[in-house]
Amino acid sequence: MRIGLLTGGGDCPGLNAAIRAVVRRARFAGHETLGIRNGWAGLSEAGQPDVIPLDRHDVSGILPEGGTILGTSRTNPLAAEGGIEIVRDNIAALALDGLVVIGGDDTLSVAAALAGCGEPVVGIPKTMDNDVWGTERCIGFDSAATIVMEAIDRLQSTAASHHRVMVVEVMGRDAGWIAAYGGLAGGADAVLVPERPVDLDAVCRHLSQRAKVGTGSSIVVVSEGVDVPRALGTDEVAAGESLDAFGHPRLDRRGVGERLGREIEARTHIETRVTVLGHLQRGGPPSLVDRVLASRYGVAAVEALEAGRWGVMVALRGEAIVEVPLDQVSRATRPVDVGLLDLAALLD
Ligand code: F6P
Repeated sequence: MRIGLLTGGGDCPGLNAAIRAVVRRARFAGHETLGIRNGWAGLSEAGQPDVIPLDRHDVSGILPEGGTILGTSRTNPLAAEGGIEIVRDNIAALALDGLVVIGGDDTLSVAAALAGCGEPVVGIPKTMDNDVWGTERCIGFDSAATIVMEAIDRLQSTAASHHRVMVVEVMGRDAGWIAAYGGLAGGADAVLVPERPVDLDAVCRHLSQRAKVGTGSSIVVVSEGVDVPRALGTDEVAAGESLDAFGHPRLDRRGVGERLGREIEARTHIETRVTVLGHLQRGGPPSLVDRVLASRYGVAAVEALEAGRWGVMVALRGEAIVEVPLDQVSRATRPVDVGLLDLAALLD
């Protein structure tokens, strides 16, 4: 077989581990792998696919490296007139017998569309947001949540020394997995996620109460996807926000943490500082869990192609790797269990 392989959407730790696994499992069975550069962009120029051959030695040493050696982009062929046809022509020109697509819900929605046209596509779920429907874990989540936990560990001591509230803004566009797991593991005192409307009065009462009983400091974790105007009770509409090719605004420009921090300080009169973890959550080496998961997914994806089981995404269910239909994956995202927030509150 000749297998194409691409990584699309935001990068995260563990992508290279998955690339290595696909290439090595393919080579083991005598298949050839072509790396497609920069996500769907690498297949979106008519007659000019952007590819590099990948053999065993090309993936030597990349297991512990962050990012993706193939590059990535948020290019969306579905948004361009005739975009999908160009991708299909390029797949045909490259004589691909299979295409492994490593991506989040956006990238996998393109994979689902291609599978719907009969292309031999298999998906691998990755996103530090961990919100791809149909799997219990996405590549990148464990590494990112661990970084949030470690950041909170560090913020705890400086918060305590100054008796401050620390607001920690973390990624998470539609789902609060990173905030919930990072916050729970770091012992945060409040965790605010997109799935649950924020009751800022209750949060401020809680922080004031903690200050009153002599608890000198508090940590508030907030997902950047939290609707701040709604939380503040204002009706403002975000003006002039630029959208990416999948229609998503740049959430880092909204200043969610900063706005909440200011409001918390105004309401509680407790000195408040804000830390935005940003892309630190997506950089650097993958955790043990992500390396193992990515390796298992990469092998399972090649096995699915070999067996002719196309149009699926490999997924984690319990301890097992399973396959789920790609067309179901692209219909929804997977919200965090808000019960985790109650657990964090219980342990506060
Ligand atoms: O890939 C998902 C994500 O990490 C979101 O949590 C975040 O909103 C977005 O990517 C940031 O993307 P970019 O790197 O393009 O700013």
